[in-house]
Amino acid sequence: MRIEGYNIVLEVLEGANLEMVIALNDPHLMKYAGRVLQQNHTLETQTEWVSKVNANPNQRYWGIYELSEFAGTIRLDISNSVGLISLWIIRKFQGHGYGVEAINLVTDYAFKYLNLHRVEAGVLPENTASIKAFQKADFVIEATLKERQWSEGKFVDEIILRRLNVL
Ligand SMILES: CC(C)(COP(=O)(O)OP(=O)(O)OC[C@H]1O[C@@H](n2cnc3c(N)ncnc32)[C@H](O)[C@@H]1OP(=O)(O)O)[C@@H](O)C(=O)NCCC(=O)NCCS
Repeated sequence: MRIEGYNIVLEVLEGANLEMVIALNDPHLMKYAGRVLQQNHTLETQTEWVSKVNANPNQRYWGIYELSEFAGTIRLDISNSVGLISLWIIRKFQGHGYGVEAINLVTDYAFKYLNLHRVEAGVLPENTASIKAFQKADFVIEATLKERQWSEGKFVDEIILRRLNVL
């Protein structure tokens, strides 16, 4: 499913690309990604990962493009009819509003086409950019889960933000 926004387009990922592999191996960019993401990604491991995600009916995985340039990824994980969004934007494209736009596009898609009632995100407390991006996309902070994530060698709290379908 291709989703057209104002400044960006979301295209279902068919495979991996070099920019994606470089970004995933960037420890600064992935600092807040939690323990599920490790380094040493290659085109092969990433292609395999994308196929695995695409084969799962409860997951949607899009590339974020500015014009035709790859700018990041956004994923929607559905569990018990609740959507969970995670995303990252390549550093040179950060701060242009693309994160907020991508979150809005995927949340609207989840409400309108997947009939979900609730979409969430789990963010580390010091990840102010991400918290702000979700808040700007009308998510509200709902809870702090104690020591829910693993980051830089220790368990850390996770902030849960959510948006409900109020239509
Ligand atoms: C979080 C992230 C996706 C935001 O994407 P983005 O495209 O840079 O964000 P936007 O340009 O849409 O900005 C959204 C708001 O966040 C704020 N923001 C952006 N970068 C920031 C930073 N480094 N520090 C503090 N606030 C920041 C801005 O204030 C902006 O609000 P404003 O328009 O009022 O200034 C991006 O920074 C990123 O990829 N981070 C690394 C991976 C990550 O943390 N992913 C989220 C895990 S759930």
